[in-house]
Amino acid sequence: MPNHIILSGKTVSTAVYEQLQPRIDRLKAKGIVPGLGVILVGDDPASQVYVNSKARRFKKLGLNSQTWSASSSISEQELVKLINGYNSNNNVHGILIQSPLPKHLDYNKILLNVDPHKDVDGFHPVNVGKLTLGTPQFIPCTPKGVMRILEHYEIEIEGKNVVVIGRSNIVGRPLSILTSLKQKYSNATTTICHSGTTDIPSVARQADILIAAIGVPEMIDETYVKEGAVIIDVGINRVEDDSEKGYKLVGDVNFDSIQNKVSAITPVPGGVGPMTIAMLVENTIEAAELSMSS
Ligand code: GUN
Repeated sequence: MPNHIILSGKTVSTAVYEQLQPRIDRLKAKGIVPGLGVILVGDDPASQVYVNSKARRFKKLGLNSQTWSASSSISEQELVKLINGYNSNNNVHGILIQSPLPKHLDYNKILLNVDPHKDVDGFHPVNVGKLTLGTPQFIPCTPKGVMRILEHYEIEIEGKNVVVIGRSNIVGRPLSILTSLKQKYSNATTTICHSGTTDIPSVARQADILIAAIGVPEMIDETYVKEGAVIIDVGINRVEDDSEKGYKLVGDVNFDSIQNKVSAITPVPGGVGPMTIAMLVENTIEAAELSMSS
């Protein structure tokens, strides 16, 4: 029998939803139903799955969510109009522009139009800046979910070596900041590896906590892992197979290859994935609470 703990995002997200219920009830008692406005551009199947599962969760919790589905040929100007509609809509507390956008649209430029008080993704430069200064307003959902899993399972990170593989603005970069802030459940020695790193396995083997956020199916095998390490697998990759769906979901980690070497690991699916949505709900509730005080 493998001697490791499974870090279940499913379990942690269920606990999060229970903790959020009194906050939802308080808002509703004041006549406020937290609401999310989503913009989905184009017909990327993975993005459609994500957006649908977010909408389903909001509905299940009795929260509002609406999605503008735009054609992949939408102009920047038209997209900005949609964003401004959400900015001025008092029933929309959080705005999410699903990434990636088609190539002719510059995500970072378009993001500047989102009201930072409604930026529940935490991607606007104002919110990135606040996080970097250690005074976050909205923390990006997937990194926030990873931190919440570690906290739930009481995995101490202070003074530990954390290695993050991947430097995306959505996951790797914010995680490198979150794990190295001078505060409780942080204060680690963090290293970030990326395509410019000469020898990723040798750096990864220094990790007490290894976070894989590369988007390459099952890249991380036993050569990247120190005995007893904690592994957080952020990857959700579609790999073709001969099932009815035509694909299966696998992480960035080759689970079978490392499972006997590690002390704890997030599975795929059921690990980090459910946490992203739970943190989106939490951020939207925070945004609704913020709207009461402004
Ligand atoms: N695409 C993949 N993950 C995310 C996310 O957390 N937010 C947005 N907006 N797009 C994504």
